[in-house]
Amino acid sequence: MSNLSRRNVLSLGVALGLVSAASAVPAWASTDGADPWWVWDDEVDRLVAGLVDGGRVPAVNTALRSWTDNDDPLPSGLPDDLDGWLRRVNRLPSWADPAKLRRAADFNRRKDTYLFLLYGLGSGIMSTVIPREARSVYWSAGGAAMQDRAAKTFTFGYDLSEAGAFEPSGQFVVTANKTRLVHAAVRHLLPQSPHWRAVADERIPISNGDILVTFHSLGTFVHRKLREWHVPMSAADEDAFLHQWQVAIHLLGVRDEFIPQTWAAADAQSAQVLTPLLAPTPEGKELAADLLGLTAQIDLGVTRGFLNEFVRYVLSNEVGDWLGLPRDYAAATLIRTGWPAYIAFREGLLPIAPAGFFLFDQFIRALAMLFLNKGTSPTSTPITIPTGNRPG
Ligand code: HEM
Repeated sequence: MSNLSRRNVLSLGVALGLVSAASAVPAWASTDGADPWWVWDDEVDRLVAGLVDGGRVPAVNTALRSWTDNDDPLPSGLPDDLDGWLRRVNRLPSWADPAKLRRAADFNRRKDTYLFLLYGLGSGIMSTVIPREARSVYWSAGGAAMQDRAAKTFTFGYDLSEAGAFEPSGQFVVTANKTRLVHAAVRHLLPQSPHWRAVADERIPISNGDILVTFHSLGTFVHRKLREWHVPMSAADEDAFLHQWQVAIHLLGVRDEFIPQTWAAADAQSAQVLTPLLAPTPEGKELAADLLGLTAQIDLGVTRGFLNEFVRYVLSNEVGDWLGLPRDYAAATLIRTGWPAYIAFREGLLPIAPAGFFLFDQFIRALAMLFLNKGTSPTSTPITIPTGNRPG
């Protein structure tokens, strides 16, 4: 025992269940009682595990295919237990405020170009330096087909940002429920992957804590950047944007007691549980290269150097270095001076178009097109429940 390193002892301890995997992640400061790292989605996790083991997922995917709009009746052909569960959860929480959700939709429309950019190049690339997320995405089935996976993730963002997302004619409630089923399947499947088990610091992925971390890489991050960039927003806009995300993470199965109530609380939680966790992994580096390669396939009117520098500008040089993004100092200078001026002009705070206006304009329009086309897929890519992991 004496020649075992502390790390080996720790991983041995985790393997034997003696040391909690949560020791690798920061504790939550402000929850009484339950710990979000140790809360999953028990009822649906059990139910979907049964479907996976019984070979019934393909039939369920077929039945779910025609189910898209929030007011669609549940499709026929679902197993009784899944039908019963969906009947209970397929609705907005009682605290959802339709007026705020409508305002959020309007806000998304008004600020769409910044949102495409921040979700796509910011949150998308950040997900590759959240080790647990990078490892689970990489070692799940979808990790081997990043183009397809990116298109499905676009579907989530697109349905969330759409004008009537939460209205009966919208699609977001259904998309969120399908995602919740996918996550339940992943919780059952990944622990069976020897590759994932060899690198994971947890026994079951996608806890409530992990979902909150990802929310901070999306909503909390985007909100903070909009403020940093002095994009004009009213207090009601900011509140509505938070509310939309609160409803979204409720629909993904996060317990209401864990959902931050204000942006201040979200920022504090993000500083506590997201920022200290960010780190490079071999899996994340490969995923980032795939994602940036995907973006580079589309003509964004800018060089790869400019794209790399935009990622550095949005996420920090530290993250850029972790991902090995080569430097392009000329592009970096252009972005550092040109982007704030571009925003000021677009928002009516500068009387004349600054240098580089058309370059930035073409860039964000092309990114928006990529988003609106749901990635590079010509048709919408349905979200389906996986039946296995990445082979290796
Ligand atoms: C699948 C969104 C949190 C890991 C998906 C899908 C969506 C999605 C839309 C379906 C698309 C697809 O099948 O590829 C979200 C959102 C989250 C969140 C909005 C939080 C706000 C997480 C977290 C993890 C995770 C925290 C892991 C730590 C995965 C994996 C898949 C998946 C492994 C399946 C990929 C596959 O094999 O197809 N997620 N997710 N997700 N998610 Fe999440």
